[in-house]
Amino acid sequence: MIKLAKLLGLGLTVLLSHAFRLHDVFLSPPPKNLEARVDSVLTLMTLEEKIGQLTLFTSDWEVTGPTMRENYKEDILAGKVGAIFNAHTAAYTRELQRMAVEETRLGIPLLFGYDVIHGYKTIFPVPLGEAASWDLGAIQQSARVAAAEASAAGLHWTFAPMVDIARDPRWGRVMEGAGEDPYLGSAIARARVEGFQGTDLTATNTILACAKHFAAYGAAQAGRDYHTVDMSERVLREVYLPPFHAALQAGARTFMTSFNELFGVPASGSSFLLRQVLRDEWGFEGFVVTDYTSINEMVDHGVVANEAEAGELAIRAGVDMDMQGAVFYQYLLDQVRNGQVSVTLVDDAVRRILRVKFELGLFEDPYRYSDEERQKATLLSPANRAASREVARKSIVLLKNEGEVLPLSTTLRRVAVIGPLADGRQELIGAWSGAGDYRDCVTLLEGIQARLPKPGTVNYVPGCSIGGADRGGFAAAVKAARQADVVVVGLGEAAQMSGEAASRSDIRLPGVQEELLQALAATGKPIVVVLMNGRPLDLSAVAPNASSILETWYLGTEAGNAIADVLFGDYNPAGKLPITFPRNVGQVPIYYGMKNTGRPFEAQDKYTSKYLDVANEPLFPFGYGLSYTTFAYSNLQVQPAVFTPDEPVSIKVRVQNTGKRAGEEVVQLYVRDRVGSVTRPVRELKGFQKVMLQPGESREVAFTLTEADVQFYTRSMRLEAEPGDFDIYVGGDSQATLQALLTLRK
Ligand code: BGC
Repeated sequence: MIKLAKLLGLGLTVLLSHAFRLHDVFLSPPPKNLEARVDSVLTLMTLEEKIGQLTLFTSDWEVTGPTMRENYKEDILAGKVGAIFNAHTAAYTRELQRMAVEETRLGIPLLFGYDVIHGYKTIFPVPLGEAASWDLGAIQQSARVAAAEASAAGLHWTFAPMVDIARDPRWGRVMEGAGEDPYLGSAIARARVEGFQGTDLTATNTILACAKHFAAYGAAQAGRDYHTVDMSERVLREVYLPPFHAALQAGARTFMTSFNELFGVPASGSSFLLRQVLRDEWGFEGFVVTDYTSINEMVDHGVVANEAEAGELAIRAGVDMDMQGAVFYQYLLDQVRNGQVSVTLVDDAVRRILRVKFELGLFEDPYRYSDEERQKATLLSPANRAASREVARKSIVLLKNEGEVLPLSTTLRRVAVIGPLADGRQELIGAWSGAGDYRDCVTLLEGIQARLPKPGTVNYVPGCSIGGADRGGFAAAVKAARQADVVVVGLGEAAQMSGEAASRSDIRLPGVQEELLQALAATGKPIVVVLMNGRPLDLSAVAPNASSILETWYLGTEAGNAIADVLFGDYNPAGKLPITFPRNVGQVPIYYGMKNTGRPFEAQDKYTSKYLDVANEPLFPFGYGLSYTTFAYSNLQVQPAVFTPDEPVSIKVRVQNTGKRAGEEVVQLYVRDRVGSVTRPVRELKGFQKVMLQPGESREVAFTLTEADVQFYTRSMRLEAEPGDFDIYVGGDSQATLQALLTLRK
């Protein structure tokens, strides 16, 4: 022991028995410098203990994949695990932490992780919904509340944000991200990381963020989850990597690998991704955790013959922590002992993990996050519910409003509320809803009942189920519609139809919902469709049968109230689509930033790029969303119109509220590089601002563009801007027509 103390350079004042603990060690003043503290712990560790730190197991709560180790508690006691996920609440994390801290030789605290994706107990809109707010402050606030609740329940680490760009609505996990665009996706990635981590990781109300899934998981072929990904390095770097880089720059301390292969190599074995890009190019100093059993799955991918080889490939590639696969746990000890894997690789990984544990303050007080009092005061507090309602109403997108049926008049007497989602409480929290309880949610029906002034009456008839074929309820629904002044129809998907392992090949409304809507529309009554879903849907059979359509995603705990706020005009909707809504699944992949091709669409010319049976344009484009008021854009000015690399360009536009209500507009700036050494997208989002305007008010909205904003990976794969002409478009969606010219001279 004296030898050890000397080795550590610590004056040990505490009697070290056969089982000494680090907290005792640190009772003598710890070295100030973080790296020295990390090394002082590392020096104490046996190889077994080091491998333990590289191992993450699930508790027996809420398991989402194969369970490799039932007896995780034994593993904690044996120092064979450094982190646990799916264990939460102040009491349970305290209990498990006590085992690690009090009953293992070194007492290294555990890290507790969990999928806090859109709220812990107070559930916020699904991430795709929040992205539709284009409101970075609101998105950050949502992550902030989630962190405050999760940390009070003993959690240190969320497996979020998912920053995967997703352009295929068939993929169930589009729901978990920020949509199709790298610029918007990067801004939202930053907001989420800053929300979770705050400015101080040691604060007890902040948690570690984890940027996932690194990388390109959202590009699974045919939208089938876990499927092959194959793309050019240019597309990877220009479209799929920017949100990860943004997350890192915002301080994300952990990254999660993805399940998919890229360039023929599964991500958990990709030294290109984990060493070259993440560490060497970007300078990441946090740690990399795998996704679930993705090390083991490299055997099925067919790049290694067995799990031992998979583990070796993973640690060499740059994986630090094995989630749930027990591969490091089973094989790494022998591999290091027989010289196959260098202990330096193991030490590096342990260092990264210990560093983060120090940063969280766990060595000072391993129980600091498990606080029952705070848990009681924080979870589902009125303030958190109010924050959720605010973000929820900002996430709603008004897709159609013919005849201005919305907002509903408060003098209405009879409202029919119909549809399988109208009172569908279970669906409102969506997939990946943490510790959220659907019983805490307010349904659409309840929201309307609470808001409709007396003597108005609400008549509720479900009409059909979400996915079933039974039309038996149609007659009652039609009868209710006939007796009503307006019909509000709650349609959509079941929550479990999106999320992980929830791809669909048909993105229309499931079951007989389209038929129900058709029957209701035949009554001639004004129809307001309220959609609840986790992906872009094919709405071509919905749009003609609805006067108004509200896209509400899954809005979380306060869903019904937030929707009622919009239905009755207490809140003027301002959401904009963060992802394209196609006309049918055959148009997929479809996104606004496509290439022009050598034969761009020409109606009169057969031999141009188009379909025989459907238009090229989507039903609702990226960036689209209506308001109860209208906006006009004019006077687009670009100065200077010819710029050089060190000169910022000022872009100004006048936006006027031309309607009768106050409202917010998301002013969007798009750029098209006319000629490049490689082909460029027809438009790229380069800026946006959300502005509130009173009726009649107009305002000049200003953007700044620099040379960095028009850089891309040129033919020689260098990130640079090429001189030439750029079209500038400003407006309320990605089809904006107000245009100006900008030229870069070098
Ligand atoms: C998912 C991850 C998630 C992990 C832990 C995996 O199946 O792909 O996104 O964080 O499970 O629950």
